[in-house]
Parts: sequence; structure tokens; C-alpha cells
Amino acid sequence: DDGGPDPETYCGHGRGGMGEEVKRKEDQRFITGRGNYVDDIKKPGMLHCELVRSPHAHARIENIDKSRALDVDGVVAVLTAEDLLEYDLATMPTLMADTQDVLVNDKVKFQSQEVAAVIATDRYTAKDGAQKVVVDYDVLDPVVDPYDALEDDAPLIRDDIEGQEDNHCLDWETGDREATDRVFDECEVTVKEDMLYQRLHPAPIETCGAVGDYDPGKDKLTVHMTSQAPHIHRTLFAQVSGIPEHKIRIVSPDVGGGFGNKVPIYPGYVVAAAASYVLERPVKWMEERSENIQSTGFARDYHMTGELAATKEGKIRAVRTDVLANHGAYNAVAQPSNFPAGFFNIFTGSYDVETAYGSLTAAYTNTAPGGVAYRCSFRVTEAVYLIERMVKVLADELDMDPAEIRRKNFIQPEQFPYESPTGWNYDSGDYEGALDLALEMADYDHYREEQQRRIDEDADKLLGIGISSFTEIVGAGPGKTCDIAGVEMFDSADIRVHPTGKATVRVGVQTQGQGHETTFAQIVAEELGMNVDDIVVEHGDTDTDPYGLGTYGSRSTPVAGAAAAVAARKVREKAKSIAANELEAAEEDVTWDRQSGEFHVAGAPERSIGITEIAAGAYMNHPSSEEPGLEAVDYYDPPEMTYPFGSYIVVVEVDRETGEVAFEKFVAVDDCGNRINPMVIEGQIHGGLAQGIGTAMLEQVTFDDNGNVTGGDFMNYLLPTSMEIPEFETGYTVTPSPHHPIGAKGVGESPTVGSPPAIVNAVVDAMKHGGITHVEMPMTPDVVWEKLDEAGLAI
Ligand code: CDP
Repeated sequence: DDGGPDPETYCGHGRGGMGEEVKRKEDQRFITGRGNYVDDIKKPGMLHCELVRSPHAHARIENIDKSRALDVDGVVAVLTAEDLLEYDLATMPTLMADTQDVLVNDKVKFQSQEVAAVIATDRYTAKDGAQKVVVDYDVLDPVVDPYDALEDDAPLIRDDIEGQEDNHCLDWETGDREATDRVFDECEVTVKEDMLYQRLHPAPIETCGAVGDYDPGKDKLTVHMTSQAPHIHRTLFAQVSGIPEHKIRIVSPDVGGGFGNKVPIYPGYVVAAAASYVLERPVKWMEERSENIQSTGFARDYHMTGELAATKEGKIRAVRTDVLANHGAYNAVAQPSNFPAGFFNIFTGSYDVETAYGSLTAAYTNTAPGGVAYRCSFRVTEAVYLIERMVKVLADELDMDPAEIRRKNFIQPEQFPYESPTGWNYDSGDYEGALDLALEMADYDHYREEQQRRIDEDADKLLGIGISSFTEIVGAGPGKTCDIAGVEMFDSADIRVHPTGKATVRVGVQTQGQGHETTFAQIVAEELGMNVDDIVVEHGDTDTDPYGLGTYGSRSTPVAGAAAAVAARKVREKAKSIAANELEAAEEDVTWDRQSGEFHVAGAPERSIGITEIAAGAYMNHPSSEEPGLEAVDYYDPPEMTYPFGSYIVVVEVDRETGEVAFEKFVAVDDCGNRINPMVIEGQIHGGLAQGIGTAMLEQVTFDDNGNVTGGDFMNYLLPTSMEIPEFETGYTVTPSPHHPIGAKGVGESPTVGSPPAIVNAVVDAMKHGGITHVEMPMTPDVVWEKLDEAGLAI
């Protein structure tokens, strides 16, 4: 019995296995204030680092005068690029193999770029010192808009790259251009829309930080850091610093949210580690909020054009898209190296279309580098937004119901595994099932009638209903196609069952609040017949955990979750041999019963034995055919990615007088295959929907013409609070992944990916009778009011 994709196999069995709503183990320490985050770490003799950042977006550094800073009592050192050059640490590679300054050597390329580091006995002194570092800048013209950056007369940003003559960063394309153009020429109906997926910031509650701790006695560098991917960070630290990898330990303790923001390596981490190495004392660096928003990895910033070609009856035949991507000052997108546009090529979504073509140009601008996968599998969010918006545009063009047009075009359950026109292999799906459930939960027909009634009665508040039937792609690898800095994207789990029958599970991924300490224990409990309370899950320490590529893009369950199940099955295989020894039966006569979690002799269920006795047997009475001990490790290279999906329906009221949008109803139906912990999933959905609402309604990092960040703090970068979040009604369907060992798909990012187009579609829907086809995010009241005015609907 290997379990596998059949959802009926799993029911938790009262031991906290798969499918049970086990309370999150980690919450005990989080809600009692006993979490241990990077900023909680205090070491004897620890120094503090403060970074001097550039006020200008584009400027040549003419001189840095450290002397006044060094005069401040308590300032121990001031480091500049010149000092780091001595250790060959003045620059570092980005995840896309660009070269980024750790501290600016010659030319500042974005506002808030790191120019110098002041190390002092406490944080306030370091800050005082930082204010006394005098930097002479020769200010240059900046360019922040990617369209302007590609103009002939734009100032050249990357004069450090040999042969670079303009701000062009890269080109990319996918699909069949000729076939797609042909279908567009033939089709009776074509629609086109320009849309911006604005620059966002993941804005985790905890900002980025590190404590570098070089031990000259052991000649070992420990870096405690806010990392979503400790192992790959250790490899990169070793490559950059020249310190052998076994002499580096990365510890990622509790992490207060990552959302993609803690995947890249930032200059602050390197400076803290380098300063500790140079000064032979622990050095802490911890960002402030505005530093985090202004300098660390942003997300999105895709200027997209979408086009659909269809029949008059609403059958979509082709999708075409062109994108201008703003990559900021460096190519530092955090994506598998072979995918410069991430998984954007999934832009045909849930629909069975004949052909598709996508092209993209990326530009350098004088803005912070980034393009991280903010609660997103590498640009799938942008792709989903594009296709789900375009389906609505087409529905309105044809005056068709947006639910009906989706039904007409969905990939059907029997078509799986389905190869998309851009070459992705979808594992499984039942898109219509999810949509039907969402329509029923949303009372769709009632709201359609209510919408018409309000139009007929010229009501002050219009109603709009938006749908998004998204498909995701999560769980990168496989390693042969997906790598980070050359390292294949597998993941791992190491299970050690101790003599008393309790177990420690170590994984290569790193939780940032998703509940892995509970859900990974549930997988192992399920597969070994153990009680979930008897299993502890550890992660985030490169000295003890097996190598893994980390947590982002909802890859933990699809990859490390699979590794946990396979490792547990390896343990179970050995347990069987030990059980046979203990039961004095032949191994082939012994079977495992998932329900009881015990092995028994075939035909004699009373002769049974569970993990506690088996563990004792493994250490105290091991069979001569086996080694002692009960442990296994698995490095899991996924054969394919998993394709979770869902249908979201949003009903909004739009105030014709003020442009305010209020949520009337918010229904989210998700399908993530077999569910490990429904309560954790519910929490993931709620959080992700809140972030989707932030995206659609509030958030945007903005710049003025001088390159000043004008949306770089929480006064201007507006996060949703409980006041803006409506009640969510969640539902689910279960379509297991056929290739995942426990039939699970990822879920963490689905709501952030799927909800923005549903919300925008709803707002557009409220104004469609006025001819409105699109509203740009964030849909603040002024933006919506302008559209109402344009449609002649404002009062
Ligand atoms: O990689 P990340 O943890 O961010 O995303 P995920 O793999 O989608 O998992 C998010 C949380 O939901 C984890 O605690 C998972 O174990 C849990 N989950 C679940 O209970 N059942 C699923 N089918 C998928 C995820």
C-alpha cells in the first residue's frame, strides 16, 4: 500500500495524518512571543551595521569621506567598495548571473543603493555614524520608465557592461509566431488590451536581515539570515567569498514572511558576513521598512499587451502577447536560470487553444532590481492576469456571459495530461467542476439579475461580477530543466526514527509561516502510522538539514512534500523487515495496514506491531539481514510540475459618486489535489486573497521623474488591513496530481495569483454598459471615478 493519488486512501486515521485539521505546532511559540527571528539573535560582542544609501537614482561617486563617521564614539569601522575590493567582495552575482555592486564602486544606479557600511557597538551609534559619512555625488539624469529607457537618447545605465550601448536587457519569445499570426488574420473576432501589472513589493512583516558570525577558532562563518533558500545561499556565499562551503553555515531561523522577497542575496547580507570576517566579531544588519521596500526585490512591473482571436460563437483559437518588463538596474530576477520570463509562457491558462505566441523585452531602469516571484511561481501571476482579463474583454466584445465563454474553452478533464501550445504538460484538472461550484456558492444568477435591476433603475451604486478560472504551475523542477545558479531544483527530506519510536524530520525547504512543521509531520505520520505529535520537523540549518532549493513558488508540497512521503516509504520498507523479525514471520507474509498504522501477519491481524516496537527492534534487536537503525533520506526530483487551479467569483458595488469599490461577495474555490491539512489550506487562501486585494485595490511602488521612490514606505505603499478585507467564502474540489506520491499540488500562492483578475473583472463588469473594457490596478477611488466619468456613469 503506497497510498498515492486516490484521495479516499487518506483520512488521517485519528493520528493527525493526511486530511486532518491538526492545529499548527509552530503557533504555540508564535502566539506566546517565543519565536526566534534574526533580530532576536544576540551574540556576545555583537556589532551593528547600518548602510549608507544613495539619495540619488543615478550618480557617479566622486569621493567618500569616512573620517567624521569614524570620529563618532562607538563606531568601529566604515566599509566602502574599496575595502571590499581587497577581499574580492565588492561585487556579487545576481541569481541571473548579472554583476551587482555590494557597495557602489563607481556609479549609483538606483535610489537607496548601498554606498557604505558603518559598523558600531549599537544600532543607534551606527546610524549616527552613517549620517556622518560624506559622499560627493556627480548627479546624472535618471530614467525610471522602461519605455523611456529604450529611447535612443536615454541615459546609459549599465556602462559597466562591456559593449552595452543602450538600456536593453534581454529579449525572449515562446510559441509559434507564424501559426498564431495566421489564425489572427483568419478570425472573425479579435480583441486587444494594454494592461500594466504594476510594480509591487512583497512587504513581509519581517524585513531582511542577517547576523554574520565568523569564528576564527574554528575558521567557520555562520550567517543567520532571513533566507527562503539557505542551502543555495550557502553555495553562493562559498562561490563569492572563496570560503570553502563546509566552513559556512547558513541558519534561517523563524522567518516572518518571505513571499519571494527573501530569495535573492542582498548586499546587506554580504556586508554583515564580510564585516564579521574582517573584524572577527559578530555583526548584525537589519533593514528598516523603507529600506526593504526601496532596495530589495520588487515584483511584477510587466507592461503587457494581450490579444485573443476567436470565432463569433466565442471559441478562442489563438492568444498573442507582448511584454515590456522593467527589470530595474540589474538583471536580478529570481527565477530558474533557463526561464528569463519565468513561467509566463503559461499565458494560455485553463483554455484549449490552437496556437499561441508571446514575446518580451526587458529594460534596465534607474530603479531597484528585482522581479521576484511574489507569492507566485515565476511570473505565473502576470500570465494569469493577462489571460483572465482577456477572456473578460472577449466576453464583453461578444456580449456573452463570462462563465459561459469559459465553459466553451476549458481544457476538458479527459484531455489531461495536456500539452499547452507553449509546451507545458498540465498534470490534471477539472476546471468546469470548480467553476460550477463557485457559481453556485456565489448565487451567480441572482447577482446578474440584481446588476440589471440597478442599471434599469439608474441606481447610485452599480454592481459588477468578476470571474477568474485560473490555472497555476507550481513545484519547480524537474532539475534537468529548472536550476538556480546551476543547481538542479530538487528537494529533500531526512527521517530519523529514534529508538523510542519518535522521529525527527529534516527538510531542505524553509517555512516562512506556511505551517511546514505541522503539515510535513502529517505526511510522515500518515506514511508511517505514527502520531503527528511524535514527529518534529526541522529546517533552515545547512549544518544539519539535507540540501534543498528552498521555499518559493508553492514548491514545498510538490517537491519536499513528495520527498517526505518517499523517505517515509523507504523507512516503512525497512520497518517491514524489522516487523517480520519481531513477529517471527516471513517478510512476504507481513502487510502494512494504513488504517491501524501497523504491520500484521497476513490472515492474523491480532499479530500486529506498530512503529514504537519496530523502532525498538531496529536499535535493540535488529535482524541480521539489515543494518541497525531506522532512517532514510530522499532527494526528490519531480517528473513534472503540478497544476493547481481554481475559480474565484467576486461581486463588487461601485459607487458612482465617489468611485469607491465595496466587496459584496467573495467566493474562492480551489483545487490543490489531495489536501494535507484543510485548516492550513484555508489560512493560506485567506492570506493570499488579502494580498490579491492589496494588489488590485491599493499597492504600487511609484517613482517621480528624478528617480525618487514615492511609494517606498507604509504611508504611501498601502497594504490592506482587516478594514479592507471582506468575508471570504471558500470551497474546494479535489483533483489529485497523478505523478505526485501523495497526489498533492501546491496551494500557497493560488489566491494571490487568481484573485486580482477576478476583482478587476468585477469592477470592469460594473461599468461595461458604459463601454469600459479595462481599469488599471491599483483601483483606488480616483482611478475608478475617472473610468466612471469616461463612461458617462459618474454622478
Ligand atoms: O512552498 P509553500 O509552502 O509556500 O507552498 P505550498 O507547498 O503550497 O504549501 C503551503 C502550506 O499548505 C503548507 O503547509 C502545505 O503543507 C499546505 N498544503 C496542504 O495542506 N495541502 C496541499 N495539497 C498543499 C499544501
